[in-house]
Amino acid sequence: MNLLENMKNLEGKTIIVRVDFNVPLKDGGIRDDNRIVAALPTIKYLLGQKAKVVLMSHLGKINFKLTPEEVEAAKKKNNMEPVAKRLSELLGQDVVFSKDTRGEGLKTLVEGLKDGEVLLLQNTRYEKGETKNDPELSKEWASLGDGFVMDAFGSAHRAHASTYGIPEEMKKDGKPTAIGYLVEKEVKALSKCVNPEKEDRPYLAILGGFKVSDKIKVIESLLKKTDKILIGGAMAYTFLKALGTNIGTSPCEEDQLEYAKKCYATGKIVLPVDSMVTNAFDENAEREIKVVEGNIPEGFEGMDIGSKTIALFKDEISKANLIFWNGPTGVFEQKEFITGTVEVCKAITENKHCFSVIGGGDSAAAAKQFGYKDKFSHVSTGGGASLEMIENDGHLPGIDVIG
Ligand code: 3PG
Repeated sequence: MNLLENMKNLEGKTIIVRVDFNVPLKDGGIRDDNRIVAALPTIKYLLGQKAKVVLMSHLGKINFKLTPEEVEAAKKKNNMEPVAKRLSELLGQDVVFSKDTRGEGLKTLVEGLKDGEVLLLQNTRYEKGETKNDPELSKEWASLGDGFVMDAFGSAHRAHASTYGIPEEMKKDGKPTAIGYLVEKEVKALSKCVNPEKEDRPYLAILGGFKVSDKIKVIESLLKKTDKILIGGAMAYTFLKALGTNIGTSPCEEDQLEYAKKCYATGKIVLPVDSMVTNAFDENAEREIKVVEGNIPEGFEGMDIGSKTIALFKDEISKANLIFWNGPTGVFEQKEFITGTVEVCKAITENKHCFSVIGGGDSAAAAKQFGYKDKFSHVSTGGGASLEMIENDGHLPGIDVIG
């Protein structure tokens, strides 16, 4: 793998760095700057080498099939400017912000950069060609730099112009490409979950979240790699229904029942034995909350795992030497249903002999919210990317293209 240190003589060179600054925004500010902080080592290294650093990232989604007004509204919502401001605070230096995502305006700003200066482009998805990996756009972007660094782990599963097209074009022109420090760290930790060694056994996966169908490929892959998979969250109810349990009004994907049965037959799946249920999802409604074992009564839906399941999961967690966790066990956004997720966090971090990896997304947010984040061996910045890395046996287009 081409590492950042192997890029030599960077002084005065313009280096394009693809970062993942797809951060949650709220009221015009940034709700969680974790992804910006995670990109700092690479940015600081390049600035220290007196390179001119051009940062690119997408932010949110922009659907060009909508009306021009709707597209404008999506652009406004996914404006990268607050990110430039936060980055400038974190770096302690000015960040040039380019409102233009291509053309003369951008070129002039890039050419005007001095050694050790940094520029951030407006959201790359303002360009229609970004998600299509448009060759013209890739060529234009690649022409702006003398080299490319891929440090957007969270976007490495996307073969877009800024993640795939630019390095492809640069390589054609003999320009250097490398992975940044964040991608290097992510690959190292997640590779353990892709190719576990003898000492990593028992290898346990904990999966939660909403849909079975979203996780079919990763379940298939994990069934081959792990010793056991604990299933919590809403997806557990599809499995429970497949085994004949009444699940009340809990969410269920009817078209995944056969698949769930097949997975269960491997003997590796551990399902909840009790659930915290309610008769109203709305936290402001007058509602009843109780723990039930086995069948869920009509009119009630499962919101979190119950205390017997917590004990069962904790026992499995305490024995594991490698844990990959993706997806909370319940609706942790509501305080009544945080217990399962908190206890899973706690149990994993109390197991001092295990290497523990959170595969991004909601579980990473939960670990941060409940104060356990720093106690995990690795917390990935990419939810989709870490799952795809496991599904594709360690391969992601945005990393493979670097070589
Ligand atoms: C993410 O948040 O998972 C990454 O930034 C990728 O975003 P995307 O799913 O919009 O491509």
